[in-house]
Amino acid sequence: MDRIRIVGGNQLNGVIPISGAKNAALPLMIASLLTDDTLTLENVPHLADVEQLIRILGNHGVDISVNGRRERQGESYARTIHFTCRNIVDTTAPYELVSKMRASFWVIGPLLAREGKARVSLPGGCAIGTRPVDLFIEGLTALSANIEIDGGYVNATAPEGGLIGARYTFPKVSVGATHVLMMAATLANGTTVLGNAAREPEVVDLANCLNAMGAKITGQGTPTITIEGVRSLSGARHRVLPDRIETGTYAMAVAMTGGDVILEDTNMALLDTALEAIRRAGAEITETNSGIRVVRNGAGIKPVDIVTDPFPGFPTDLQAQFMGLMTKANGTSHITETIFENRFMHVQELARLGAKISLSGQTAKIEGVSRLKGAPVMATDLRASVSLVIAGLAAEGETMVSRVYHLDRGFERLEEKLTRCGAHVERVSD
Ligand code: EPZ
Repeated sequence: MDRIRIVGGNQLNGVIPISGAKNAALPLMIASLLTDDTLTLENVPHLADVEQLIRILGNHGVDISVNGRRERQGESYARTIHFTCRNIVDTTAPYELVSKMRASFWVIGPLLAREGKARVSLPGGCAIGTRPVDLFIEGLTALSANIEIDGGYVNATAPEGGLIGARYTFPKVSVGATHVLMMAATLANGTTVLGNAAREPEVVDLANCLNAMGAKITGQGTPTITIEGVRSLSGARHRVLPDRIETGTYAMAVAMTGGDVILEDTNMALLDTALEAIRRAGAEITETNSGIRVVRNGAGIKPVDIVTDPFPGFPTDLQAQFMGLMTKANGTSHITETIFENRFMHVQELARLGAKISLSGQTAKIEGVSRLKGAPVMATDLRASVSLVIAGLAAEGETMVSRVYHLDRGFERLEEKLTRCGAHVERVSD
């Protein structure tokens, strides 16, 4: 099994191309189930989660062809993928596939909308929290779906003439349930109004793509999204938006090591709150023609308190990385996680590098230390694993991160991107 070996101590200087967003690409790919025409997605990142979803969509009858497109001499590998689902051949998403990647549960929306039925396995446990699906069930029921849980599966059926538009207000903000309800409502009879909807850029990207396919969605990016049902959707061509979590991760890496890096093909509006926290920690962040420039010279890292929140708040997907950064701050900081109840698995691993972190409920207290020391550590989930990379880049000596498959789910060519900026990072295959 692959591991990542990091020898810390080098500053980062250079250019890092930012990939298309994993968390936008996944729902966009699922939207291809809504039409018998071809949906073409550009800037799709080459990641294990994308490959897994390709397998799942193939199972439902989506024909997929990939055009590789090299960008800048192999630095990044954005791809254009064509998805065509002439007929849905199977409305069941089995446990073996759904349990590997939670987002595959989201096929329930398009399957139900287009075929009037779906049998989708419950996703099961997850390292970062319990992550129930009650909001999906409640929301789809509001659109008149009949839902039963049987043998670990959600069996959903639409009324005779299809789903019926309705008003539904989420009791809690959910990115996934917003994606699913929005997709399901595009083909419903009448108008659906979603209240307390997620405002994440990935929701806006999906709505924009659905509109390009002929849907009638307004209000995306605000808490109220209105979807006027249409009879059918057509194909479209859409470019996946830049990955704001990858952007923030590399910005934090530069803030950690010091240096001067341009993050290309991304933009500040996607992550204002996180960038503001990195600025307060001591980095200079400016907009450039092609992206974002992050610089930290001489000045040390200042402690900054953050609380995770739905967009536009500080993203939970950057919480572990920010904790990595705070381990070397000149003072004590506090990080409160409000989205997932168990998203602190990185704490014990960061401690192995010499970090001083204590937990009290949903808040971590981080007492900055002047030096971290490399050690073998274990990745526990996608974002936790990259926080270990950030800490390893600033630790003395060698850090060996095992269970790298977590990283491969969401960071395209991580070691290559960091190495080109002067870091000592390599993949070791046993
Ligand atoms: C998305 O997950 C992202 N995944 C997550 O990124 C991200 O952490 C999360 O949104 C929050 O921003 C993808 O986009 C593929 P939620 P999602 O539904 O949609 C609770 C990563 O590292 N909830 O917004 O599954 C839930 O338990 C991943 O890339 C219910 O209670 O998250 C959580 O506490 C990890 N009932 C909160 O809502 C439900 O029916 C927000 O979860 C659904 C959710």
